[in-house]
Amino acid sequence: MPTPGPPAPRTSASARAAVLSGLGTSLPPRVVTNDELAQRLDTSHDWIIERTGIARRRVAAPGTTTAALATAAGRAALASAGRSSCETVIVATTTPDRSCPATAPSVATALGLTGAAAFDVSAVCSGFVYALSVASSMIVAGLCGSVLVIGAELYSAIVDPDDRSTAIIFGDGAGAVLLERGERSAPGAVLHHDLGSDGEGRDLITVPPGERFLRMRGREVYVRAVPTMTASARRVAEAAGWRPGEIDGFVGHQANLRILQSVAKRLELPDERVIANIAEVGNTAAASIPLALASAAGQGRLARGDRLVLTAFGGGLTWGSTALLWSGARPVHQEVEPLS
Ligand code: ACO
Repeated sequence: MPTPGPPAPRTSASARAAVLSGLGTSLPPRVVTNDELAQRLDTSHDWIIERTGIARRRVAAPGTTTAALATAAGRAALASAGRSSCETVIVATTTPDRSCPATAPSVATALGLTGAAAFDVSAVCSGFVYALSVASSMIVAGLCGSVLVIGAELYSAIVDPDDRSTAIIFGDGAGAVLLERGERSAPGAVLHHDLGSDGEGRDLITVPPGERFLRMRGREVYVRAVPTMTASARRVAEAAGWRPGEIDGFVGHQANLRILQSVAKRLELPDERVIANIAEVGNTAAASIPLALASAAGQGRLARGDRLVLTAFGGGLTWGSTALLWSGARPVHQEVEPLS
């Protein structure tokens, strides 16, 4: 009988964590500036930039699908991690290509991952944070070893082009991260989550039943977003053992620059710790947090081991935060693939 060797190293469930190993993005090539919108809407560049911080956004060509954007971002995240496969694919989206079935199985197959578990998460602008919590819980529970979490949105399909209160805000795009099994002390470790909802606010951001376009009561959403995001960010930081002032990077959902600045002020964070790319891409809902992360990482603004808090707020109402240590992943960008 062979002599048994030393036991294989094991990670106990309490020390096991999901670790972010790859980060990818995809944006449609067409840039729409505020001046272009002002040619057909009763608005101006100055109004939009002062009230929202948005200078331009990307808008997909007719026929582009959410699955195409998600696939390109997912492929980029796998490339960023140096991987060619994963066990589970989660797509967070408000704009699925079909109401049935989910978008994720098509994305998994397009990535060559037929057979992988694949499903969508629907939590509007909080979708990416919700999906991260599901993915990391699956890994910590030992259900699988790797999950591709993709936020992908095609808001141009649900925004009324004649409604100046929403047409100026939203953009199309996708961002993705790969989570893999690792340890809580590792750079990239996802440490804590905080999630919540309030269905009383369901009419504040909604596509009314039987209608095609999104309607948003922006001022009322704004007033609720600031205290709710602040409280959620505080809770997740405390759960991770950090004082709010110890957060190295606050990556809030990019809905409005003034919301991000107000939350940061309440958390007593200096402006340089606020990650914002809203000027370039507008509000991309479930894609906004990974797009903002990639923008900051690409500019060298994040150091390995940095304490990051990701916080979102949006339709539902829903909100949520994730605390993680930055992994040092290098973001990869991939153009959305041509229609097949
Ligand atoms: N250009 C010029 N004027 C405008 C425009 C525009 N594009 N849009 C609205 N206005 C006018 C309004 O008609 C109003 O005019 P009035 O005073 O004569 O009535 C005035 O500007 C002020 O309107 P408000 O809606 O109060 O403007 P506000 O400063 O609140 O900015 C905005 C609007 C940008 C929508 C802001 O309220 C906001 O960012 N809200 C939060 C959005 C958010 O966080 N959403 C959650 C995530 S998105 C999701 O989940 C899908």
